Amino acid sequence: MTLRLNDITVTLGSGESRTTALHGLTTTFQPGALTALVGPSGSGKSTLLAVAGALLRPDEGQVVLGETDLASLTDRERARTRRTRIGYMFQSGNLLAGLTAEEQLLAAASLAGGRPRAVRDQARELLADVGLAHRLRHRPDQLSGGERQRVALARALLTRPELLLVDEPTAAVDRTRAGDLTGLIARTTHQHGCVTVVATHDPVVIEAADTTIDMLDHATATTG
Ligand SMILES: Nc1ncnc2c1ncn2[C@@H]1O[C@H](COP(=O)(O)OP(=O)(O)OP(=O)(O)O)[C@@H](O)[C@H]1O
Ligand SMILES: [Mg+2]
Repeated sequence: MTLRLNDITVTLGSGESRTTALHGLTTTFQPGALTALVGPSGSGKSTLLAVAGALLRPDEGQVVLGETDLASLTDRERARTRRTRIGYMFQSGNLLAGLTAEEQLLAAASLAGGRPRAVRDQARELLADVGLAHRLRHRPDQLSGGERQRVALARALLTRPELLLVDEPTAAVDRTRAGDLTGLIARTTHQHGCVTVVATHDPVVIEAADTTIDMLDHATATTG
């Protein structure tokens, strides 16, 4: 499955804060490839992830996931697509308050249509992969920022998404962990053949990526 973004324009805010975050962006992401999305702060990386992940509707343009044009889906179908086909690891972590690290993964599996009991071992394995074997019973308010983000990554990987969207996975961790997480994301991408897009400023991630997209190239291409 490929992900195609075709002539995407996104305008955010209103009045004086009105900003064109993406302007006529066209690009294709290949399955089994880790793409690093680079560019200065404010260049639209997180906005691109939100549009690609069906969290934000573009003002113009198409987002096509495999054969599916996201604009043609009802709200219900979009929600289902998010639960079953897309994995997210965003900076905020987006964890559910009150659930332990392990329960976050089991809940996601359940929402995607799986049986939590069947995936418990795998959930623990993934939490160990992201260095949280000792934090299974911790709730979000008992985890550090970097730990919350790693729970979100383990949760994203558990549902075996076709599209994996990751926002600055290494910003809140030490260098050793940054290497480990990057390796895990790259391995998962190559083994599962998912489309993976990672917004990053980190040379470690850029080095490990199969392709790099510079948001500034797109900005100059579309305004020139
Ligand atoms: N709700 C909003 N209203 C108005 N402008 C916004 C809104 N959200 C984001 N923006 C603007 O849109 C632009 C793109 O933001 P985005 O978050 O996509 O950047 P980014 O490349 O992810 O930056 P960073 O590297 O700092 O995470 C920025 O200039 C930002 O100020
Ligand atoms: Mg961002």
